[in-house]
Amino acid sequence: MSIETAERQDTAPAAPEQPMLEVKDLVVRYGRGRKAAAAPAAVDGVSFSIRPGETVGLVGESGSGKSTIGKAILGLQTSAGGIIRFQGKDITHAGAAERRALGGELRAVFQDPNSSLNPRQSIGASLAEPLRLRGVTAAVARQKAEAMLERVGLPREAVDRYPSQFSGGQRQRIAVARALICEPKLVVCDEAVSALDLSTQAQVLNLLADLRDEHGLSYLFIAHDISVVQFLAQRVVVLYRGQVMESGPAAAVTESPVHPFTQALVAASPVPRAAEQAERRMLRESLGVRTAAAVTASQAGCPFSQRCPLATELCTAERPALRRVGAADVACHYA
Ligand SMILES: Nc1ncnc2c1ncn2[C@@H]1O[C@H](COP(=O)(O)OP(=O)(O)O)[C@@H](O)[C@H]1O
Ligand code: SF4
Ligand SMILES: [Mg+2]
Repeated sequence: MSIETAERQDTAPAAPEQPMLEVKDLVVRYGRGRKAAAAPAAVDGVSFSIRPGETVGLVGESGSGKSTIGKAILGLQTSAGGIIRFQGKDITHAGAAERRALGGELRAVFQDPNSSLNPRQSIGASLAEPLRLRGVTAAVARQKAEAMLERVGLPREAVDRYPSQFSGGQRQRIAVARALICEPKLVVCDEAVSALDLSTQAQVLNLLADLRDEHGLSYLFIAHDISVVQFLAQRVVVLYRGQVMESGPAAAVTESPVHPFTQALVAASPVPRAAEQAERRMLRESLGVRTAAAVTASQAGCPFSQRCPLATELCTAERPALRRVGAADVACHYA
């Protein structure tokens, strides 16, 4: 390359990077008919995107719609509205054949590794399956399975063993190996470490981080515990009753949350030291946020208004739009 071309390339404006995943105004409803239409949507107008190599954390209490978003992206749940684009391609209503074609590029790790590991199938056969579906020979699939097991910290001989011969943490490593064996671009991790004890959790999180950096992977990392999400994610999306309450850079959202719900979520996340735990408890109480048990069904306005200590008439009448506050986007009239 001549010096002139090199200079020209240096000064040329960078092409805008295409997101790995784009979710826009996603709506998901369960059930059919009039009853479903009357019930609040499980996911109600959610938008976010994930850049190549980026991890976005999706956090919220149980029942807030996190898994439903993951399922819609993976094609396991139909969407009632909105658009899902993967590498620029609209996959919102992709049919089975189109999904199969994507299969290797878009993979998942769930909380319960038993959902992706058949107890009657050897580990080698489980790992080879997605490769065999793509026409890889049995011998090559076995080699790849052995190499992948080694990469996730298990012995090569594990190929001939069965899921019941491994601990929960090891089974989760195997599930990670199975998700990554087809060299995916995006992995949806839904509560992938939530069932593990703290030290195993840390090991699997480190493994996920190493694999991401080695392969330039993108993750949608779903968890109810914001401290787990904080470890991996560059950006965090906070969900409450199917709606985004706050989203932005992980440091901003987790260290100086703006939305009253995010503040409560951070105060509720467990910390290892007893003194810190007591501080968190005091903070939680001082926030005055009511528990989820106090909430009744469908309502207009801010979805958090029944629990929010700052709620006014405006909050119960009008749903707040997301707007920029500091580094984050926040849906609160008084942020
Ligand atoms: N298969 C289903 N049928 C009907 N409702 C469901 C189903 N799965 C989830 N829901 C409801 O959708 C909402 C969101 O659930 P989910 O996405 O599993 O939340 P999360 O993963 O955040 O715990 C909840 O109110 C839940 O009860
Ligand atoms: S909009 Fe009102 S009810 Fe909702 S979080 Fe803000 S202050 Fe609380
Ligand atoms: Mg879930």
